Amino acid sequence: MERIQLQQEELKRRLDEEQINLRELARRLWTQQESEKARLSRELHDGVGQLLTGLTRRLQGIASNQPEFTELYDIAEMALADVRQLSRMMSPTILDDLGLKPALKWLCRNLFEAEGIQYACDINLKGDIPKVQAILVFRIAQEALVNALKHSRADTITVNLAQHHQVLRLDVIDNGVGFDVENIERGIGMSSMLDRASAFDAELTFQARPQQGTHITLTVAL
Ligand SMILES: Nc1ncnc2c1ncn2[C@@H]1O[C@H](COP(=O)(O)OP(=O)(O)OP(=O)(O)O)[C@@H](O)[C@H]1O
Ligand SMILES: [Mg+2]
Repeated sequence: MERIQLQQEELKRRLDEEQINLRELARRLWTQQESEKARLSRELHDGVGQLLTGLTRRLQGIASNQPEFTELYDIAEMALADVRQLSRMMSPTILDDLGLKPALKWLCRNLFEAEGIQYACDINLKGDIPKVQAILVFRIAQEALVNALKHSRADTITVNLAQHHQVLRLDVIDNGVGFDVENIERGIGMSSMLDRASAFDAELTFQARPQQGTHITLTVAL
């Protein structure tokens, strides 16, 4: 009897150890993905972005004398704006340069202002947030906000980030069409949010019901 108990304890110890190893591996993979995104973002900006900047300038010069080129200039300018947006969303340098609060404010402005959606972005932090947690919060907020924009048909979206002692809490709330949390077919977005949160020991919950909006909460220790 005692032997079985000892064996069980040993098995449990090994399982715990494996779980810690897996979590460390997951963290490394997410961190690598961030560096790869930063690299791609720079390449987009410095490669296609620079070429389009050159092309736009040339077309602008030509269009000022020959109006039939105006449409080509407009198209080149739209392509340039798209590349810039993609590059910024892929790796928002504002997060590194200015920190989490300005980065989240920028994200909301960038996503919602042109769409005419009412939003509130209320952020109360007590100091600088370590990079690991800042990236986690930013990426979860980004996917939640893009989802709200793409799927919810909400007219009001709220982002709250607050720090209580050593715990950060992010709430993203929309008043849109909601969904059935248990039966929804998850895309890459939602699965990534859950995997990322679990890799960094954070808790992520979705509260949503059809026609009753969506409320996403992330809590993470600092
Ligand atoms: N805020 C929301 N309001 C309404 N429905 C939502 C909301 N967020 C998610 N959903 C539903 O959950 C589904 C899964 O979301 P998820 O982010 O995983 O996938 P996706 O946005 O469709 O694709 P992607 O993998 O590009 O993110 C969505 O297709 C949508 O039906
Ligand atoms: Mg999504």
